[in-house]
Amino acid sequence: MPAGLSWNILPACVAVLVLAVGAVRAHAVPDAMPSTMPSVMPDAVAGATTLSHTQSVYVSHCGGCHGIEGISGPTFVPMLRNSVGSFACTEEGRAYLVRVPGVSMSLIRDDQTLADVMNFVLVTLGGTSTPPGFRPYTAAEVHAWRAHPLSGPDFMALRAHVLERSLAACARQPDRG
Ligand code: HEC
Repeated sequence: MPAGLSWNILPACVAVLVLAVGAVRAHAVPDAMPSTMPSVMPDAVAGATTLSHTQSVYVSHCGGCHGIEGISGPTFVPMLRNSVGSFACTEEGRAYLVRVPGVSMSLIRDDQTLADVMNFVLVTLGGTSTPPGFRPYTAAEVHAWRAHPLSGPDFMALRAHVLERSLAACARQPDRG
């Protein structure tokens, strides 16, 4: 896959997000609320709107492409859910996850915020794929690695090699699984 291709879907992702946010707003703030309306909407879902700051940053900056739960469906956007942690057993893999263009060039400019989002991605979305001894990303690591964004025609080959080496390292970790 040519690396440039991935950015072609940005407008679509943004459009989906804008629609989704619009739908949520439209639902949460009805234009004409009758005075007899109960204070809790009958179809309200408990806890559905209580996202942490990090989760809402993920939803706005990453969720349009990767899905709000890390499930991107049958597209060329990789699944994060129960999958992304497979890269995290080597330093090279940890760096890879920060250097992919969607992360390194993210509009989330604050390194600590991006580290928090990556730790949410690995620990929560990565689920069973993330090694038990996963060391959370620090702002310093994010700062250093995002300065070297990955690109180029060999991206998928590089990804495959990074993944292979990490999976081998994961398998050598005695406390895994
Ligand atoms: C425009 C859509 C888009 C956005 C926005 C986006 N990504 Fe991605 N992401 C991709 C695509 C496509 C890939 C595959 C690599 C490539 O071609 O860039 C990818 C790869 C990744 C990977 C590597 C996974 C793997 O299996 O190789 C991670 C981790 C990741 N993204 C996390 C994020 C996070 C976190 C954000 C928000 C800060 C984000 N992405 C924003 C589309 C996106």
